[in-house]
Amino acid sequence: KGCKLVGCGSAVPNLKVSNDDLAKIVDTSDEWISVRTGIRNRHILAGNDTLTALAVEAARKALQMAEVDPDDVDLVLLCTSTPEDLFGSAPQIQKALGCKRNPLAYDITAACSGFLLGLVSAACYIRGGGFSNVLVIGADALSRYVDWTDRGTCILFGDAAGAVLVQACNSEEDGLFGFDMHSDGGGQRNLNAPIVENEVDHALGSNGSVLGFPPRRSSYSCIQMKGKEVFRFAVRCVPQSIESALQKAGLTVSSIDWLLLHQANQRIIDVVATRLEVPPERVISNLANYGNTSAASIPLALDEAVRGGKVKLGDIIAASGFGAGLTWGSAIVRW
Ligand code: ACO
Repeated sequence: KGCKLVGCGSAVPNLKVSNDDLAKIVDTSDEWISVRTGIRNRHILAGNDTLTALAVEAARKALQMAEVDPDDVDLVLLCTSTPEDLFGSAPQIQKALGCKRNPLAYDITAACSGFLLGLVSAACYIRGGGFSNVLVIGADALSRYVDWTDRGTCILFGDAAGAVLVQACNSEEDGLFGFDMHSDGGGQRNLNAPIVENEVDHALGSNGSVLGFPPRRSSYSCIQMKGKEVFRFAVRCVPQSIESALQKAGLTVSSIDWLLLHQANQRIIDVVATRLEVPPERVISNLANYGNTSAASIPLALDEAVRGGKVKLGDIIAASGFGAGLTWGSAIVRW
C-alpha cells in the first residue's frame, strides 16, 4: 500500500516580534541576528492565543486543501514538545476539528525532528495498519520556555503550527520513497529544557513528614543550548542522513527538486546545501519571517512554498529535521 501527501496548512500567531524589538530587551542588534542566523522576525503567542487553536487552524487548512472531511480522519498525530496539557493536546485537536468517529489522537515529542517522525509514523500506520487519512501536525510554542534574558537563545525561536494530510493510495502513487532516522541521547547536554522539581512539603505543614517523602511540584527549566555544538551536530549529521534516505529511495541528489530542512539557522541550511551540492534556487527557506518554530518549521515552510506556487504537484522534496534529544531524520517525499 502507498501513501501520499494530499494537503497542507499552517498558522502563526498575530504578534510579530522583530530583531529591533528584541534589541530593546537584550544586548543584541538586527545586524548580529540577521548575519548569524538569517532571522529577522518571529511570531509569538500572546494574550489568549493557544497553541492548540493554531494547530487546529493549520489542520483545517490542510483538510480543506485535501478536500477531506474531518469525519474521514482516522488518526491525528500532534508533533510537539510544548503541549498545553501534560497528557498531550492531540485529543483536544481531534475534538475541535469535529472528527466524529473518535479517531486515535496522540502527541509525539521529538523537538525539531518531531514532524519528520510524525510523517514516517503516518506512513507506517497507513502501510501496516489499514489507516486511510492521517493528519500530521507540527506545532510548538518554544517562546514559553525561552529565557528572555539570554541573548544566545531568545533571538532564535518563534511559535507556529503546520499540518499535512497523509492519505492511503495504491503503490504506484506512493509518495514516501525513503527515510532515515536517528537519536543520540549523549548529545542531550548540548540542548535541553530539563525538569525542575520543587519541594512543596511546607504545604502540608508538619504532617508532610508522615508521607516519608517530600511532595514535589515539577516544571521545566528554560531552554539551555550550546549553540556551536548544535551547529556542528547539524552540519555533520543532516547531509549524511539525507544521503542515506536518498540511497534507500534509490535516488540521488540530482533527483530532488527541493531541499527542505528544519528552519533553525540560514547558515546551517547553506552549509548542508553546499555539502550536498544543491544549488540555492532549489533550497526552501522562510526562517527570516518566522525564526526556528521547532516541529512546525517543515510543514510551515512547505505550506508557504506550495501555496506560493513554488512547489508543484509531483515535485520531489528531501526534508530533514534535527534538534533536541538529540534527534534527526530525513524523508524523501513527493508533493
Ligand atoms: N547578539 C549579540 N551577540 C551575541 C548574541 C546576540 N543575540 N548571542 C551571542 N552573542 C555573542 C556571544 O556572547 C559571544 O560573545 P563573546 O565572543 O564576547 O563571548 C559571540 O556573540 C559569539 O557567540 P557564539 O555563541 O559563539 O555565536 P555563534 O556564531 O555560535 O552563533 C548561534 C550563535 C546563532 C546560536 C549559532 O551557534 C547557532 O545557530 N547554532 C545552532 C543553534 C540551533 O539551531 N539550535 C536549535 C536547534 S533545534 C531544536 O531542537 C530546539
